[in-house]
Amino acid sequence: MIDLRSDTVTRPTPAMRKAMADAEVGDDVYSEDPTVNSLQERAAEIFGREAALFVPTGSMGNQVAVKLHTKPGDEIVIEERGHIFNYEMGTPAVVSGVIVRPVKSSDGSGMLTWTDIEPALHVDQPYYSCPTGLICLENSHNLAGGSVMTAAECRMICENAHSRGIPVHMDGARIFNASAALGTSVRDLTGECDSVQFCLSKGLGAPVGSVLVGSREFIAEARVWRKRLGGGMRQVGVLAAAGLVALEESPPKLADDHANAKTLAEGLAELPGLSIDPEKVVTNIVIVDASAADLSSQEIVEALKEKGVLAIGFGSAIRMVTHFDVSSDDIAKSIAAFREILAK
Ligand SMILES: Cc1ncc(COP(=O)(O)O)c(C=O)c1O
Repeated sequence: MIDLRSDTVTRPTPAMRKAMADAEVGDDVYSEDPTVNSLQERAAEIFGREAALFVPTGSMGNQVAVKLHTKPGDEIVIEERGHIFNYEMGTPAVVSGVIVRPVKSSDGSGMLTWTDIEPALHVDQPYYSCPTGLICLENSHNLAGGSVMTAAECRMICENAHSRGIPVHMDGARIFNASAALGTSVRDLTGECDSVQFCLSKGLGAPVGSVLVGSREFIAEARVWRKRLGGGMRQVGVLAAAGLVALEESPPKLADDHANAKTLAEGLAELPGLSIDPEKVVTNIVIVDASAADLSSQEIVEALKEKGVLAIGFGSAIRMVTHFDVSSDDIAKSIAAFREILAK
């Protein structure tokens, strides 16, 4: 099977498996796991932050951040297709008691600008409105087809938000993809954000885990909330070891995934009934609109599966994500499978 459903499907590399087998471990609830500590120190260093915390999932990293930055009754502003809003099980409401104010990005790219955000804010309006407690950004943006936010745009949002006393959290599940696409370090892409969550288990290929980075004080509080939410882990250095390998070895490989995604988009753009602008595919996510095809997106996904290609249908669109278990040969086979299905 050529599995294009997500970059979460990668299997640990031989180097990761070896590191896992050899990992020195301790009880991480007591902060005594040396491998977890190394991963956290290295992540903090790469992002230019005081501290970092290993968490089991990206969702937990994001939701701990939402919890710490807000108080019940606040509102969080986020792009309308943002993961924190759409795919984290309503946790902002359940755990933090906040409501979400989804905002459209004016150019449709998924990347909010300050001009998009400002009218949605509630500051100094004591009656009727929930005060804006947090702005959440996502880079790269999953549901917007892996689009990216430049360091300058992010800085402008943060400076304006901070001048109004509002913190900014970055859902950087795929921030290393954004970094590879823009040629800008993750440190520069996120420098002004109050907290950043990034995933080890997506394009970087580790089997499990994400990291939350921020100030020493913020991370100390995050440790408490991680435990409260059931994320206090014990000899978890066996997982952090794979994460360390992912952090050091995977970022330079992401350019290959991006080239494969671009080739896939270019191939699909030629086919009848499919619509995609390959110019807009800059990272590893390809979302193709199939509304003009004779088959529904679900029928195409089923037919692809019979031909050994796995993808995901989203309404009338189909999403595919490249990763290091997908070769350029696999991309050619996937385009051929689409061609055969749509020719029928
Ligand atoms: C942009 C984004 N943020 C957060 C997450 C959540 O990560 P996890 O599945 O590890 O909870 C995902 C997962 O797909 C994602 O795409």
